[in-house]
Amino acid sequence: MKLTMRLGVRSYDIILKRGVLSRVGQLTNLSRRVLVVSDEGVPQAYRDAILAQCGQGVSVVLPQGEGSKSIACFERLLNTMLEHDFTREDAVLALGGGVVGDLAGFAAACYMRGIAFINCPTTTLSQIDSSIGGKTAINLEGAKNTVGAFHQPCLVAIDPDTLDTLPPRHFANGLAEAIKAGVIADPDLFELFEKGDIKADIEEIICRSLVVKKNVVEKDERENNLRAMLNFGHTLGHAIESISGLGKLYHGECVALGMLPMTESPSVRRRLRTVYKMLGLPARIRYDGEALYEFIRHDKKMGAGGAITVVKAAKLGEVRLEKIPLEDLKTIIGEGIR
Ligand SMILES: NC(=O)c1ccc[n+]([C@@H]2O[C@H](COP(=O)([O-])OP(=O)(O)OC[C@H]3O[C@@H](n4cnc5c(N)ncnc54)[C@H](O)[C@@H]3O)[C@@H](O)[C@H]2O)c1
Ligand SMILES: [Zn+2]
Repeated sequence: MKLTMRLGVRSYDIILKRGVLSRVGQLTNLSRRVLVVSDEGVPQAYRDAILAQCGQGVSVVLPQGEGSKSIACFERLLNTMLEHDFTREDAVLALGGGVVGDLAGFAAACYMRGIAFINCPTTTLSQIDSSIGGKTAINLEGAKNTVGAFHQPCLVAIDPDTLDTLPPRHFANGLAEAIKAGVIADPDLFELFEKGDIKADIEEIICRSLVVKKNVVEKDERENNLRAMLNFGHTLGHAIESISGLGKLYHGECVALGMLPMTESPSVRRRLRTVYKMLGLPARIRYDGEALYEFIRHDKKMGAGGAITVVKAAKLGEVRLEKIPLEDLKTIIGEGIR
């Protein structure tokens, strides 16, 4: 299946097909220097499949986890490209999850002011969400995505077969972003989760989620307005992720939690909890509400009297941006999600 992200001169194809990992070279030019970025958790067989198609592949295997979205790893990628005489005609290829994608994409955005970036996502989260849209970033001292750039890939090749090796917690984690896509724009997608045969429906789940994101990004690439809808569950989610210590709770798990207080309909909240339970995603958490509130205030650089825009869902498929006083956010945050 092929989707095209239509962004004028920055348009690109998104190919979703079992086995596509061994055919990437037929879809884009790998006959140049290609920096193949993965991490230690990505099975060697996937690296071999990609490197076999590269005439001049240079492989960098990073440590696993959020900690690799760092200045040190960013520097390592840039230095490796410089050592191997990469020019503006060469490319960076990300093979892995959102961590590898965000870091490698940022290195591609910066090296010689921007070189080609190919994304081959291998986690549910990256196949469903992070591999398209062009947001790239690294973390600064534990503050997530503080340094980054918009840099669109030139090809996204998604091979759902790679999900067979993904640990179950990571498999469920990424599905939270698909649930989000369902809530904001595609009730039928949400109902696929209620049907409960996720493995059988995984290609449809990935595809429908990508369509939701693509439709939004095409209208608002740089998040001036509409793209903020994709942040449903993320204001709180991002704060929970950061104050619980980066990497302890995964991104999707935090987004799953963050969607609950922003869902106004009690029946939709109940349905969300049922789906979370089936998937093994967290549906409850206790936290220090004051710390969470302070994190958000600091993160958004706001004084105590400020107002913040949040995304609320009235019902399935119906979300809106709402500007609320910070005091109201404090009430929404409470002391946990129960
Ligand atoms: N750029 C965006 O638009 C965007 C959107 C959402 C999330 N993100 C970012 O994505 C990151 C999270 O991504 P993630 O959830 O993919 O985590 P991840 O990249 O850390 O991958 C999860 C784990 O799975 C392993 N792995 C990857 N593919 C595998 C496979 N096929 N088989 C076995 N193991 C495999 C990795 O080694 C890693 O340990 C966060 O940093 C988040 O901020 C970015
Ligand atoms: Zn997200």
